[in-house]
Amino acid sequence: MGELKTPREIEAMRAAGSFVARVLSSLQDVARVGMTLKELDAHAHRMIDDAGAHSVYLGYHPSFGAMPYPGVLCTSVNDAALHGLPSEQVLADGDVLSIDFAAQVNGWVADSALSFQLGTPDPDSQRLIRVTEEALAAGIAQARPGNRMGDISAAIGEVGRAAGLGINADFGGHGVGRTMHEEPHVPNLGRRGSGIKLKAGLVIAIEPWFMAGGDGYVIDPDGWTIRTADGSRAAHAEHTVAITPDGPLVLTARKG
Ligand code: MF3
Ligand code: CO
Repeated sequence: MGELKTPREIEAMRAAGSFVARVLSSLQDVARVGMTLKELDAHAHRMIDDAGAHSVYLGYHPSFGAMPYPGVLCTSVNDAALHGLPSEQVLADGDVLSIDFAAQVNGWVADSALSFQLGTPDPDSQRLIRVTEEALAAGIAQARPGNRMGDISAAIGEVGRAAGLGINADFGGHGVGRTMHEEPHVPNLGRRGSGIKLKAGLVIAIEPWFMAGGDGYVIDPDGWTIRTADGSRAAHAEHTVAITPDGPLVLTARKG
């Protein structure tokens, strides 16, 4: 089921949550057409150092990555959906950028992602981003004691499917605590009423990622970047959420 946190521990996780939120807001502020993904990574790295926080990405080497992770951010552009490496790629007008960021503060981790378009917006990309955010909100709304994991998964999947978007359940959300990836898995597709019972004290990252085209993905030759199989665009949205007796508490909520 994953370790349950006490109310005091959830309070202590707020610092990590608000730091991760602040970094993502700042990245969205500074991101410009003409900037490289590496420059965004350096910006986040400076904020980590200034805050005395700790990167949980740098050097991370899970089974789904070819080598230790080389940055503090995932920066996924257009057909890149997840785990995009902060490269020398230059952001162009109309690019959809997904930034995924997690860090440890005072021993606790928070993990969050957002997607936005640079420069000139187009309706299809804006809809893709909006629906992904709506799916995240629908998933969060189910994160309450007494519900089951399948209620979160189904809520996410239904929003994506209703919009005709591609969904692949291979990557999804996860428990969050002293480390980034803990039990339980939080799938982006599922059946209502199925799965483990949600209990107060469970802290999970909920993270829909949807594709404008089909359900397939490929792994880039770089060994990390997950791309849509058909070259369509993808979007990703994520919050770290504590399940409390009163319902979901979004630890990574951004101001404004
Ligand atoms: N933060 C991502 C997630 O949402 C995982 C990033 S893996 C890393 O689960 F290696 F890039 F850090
Ligand atoms: Co995550």
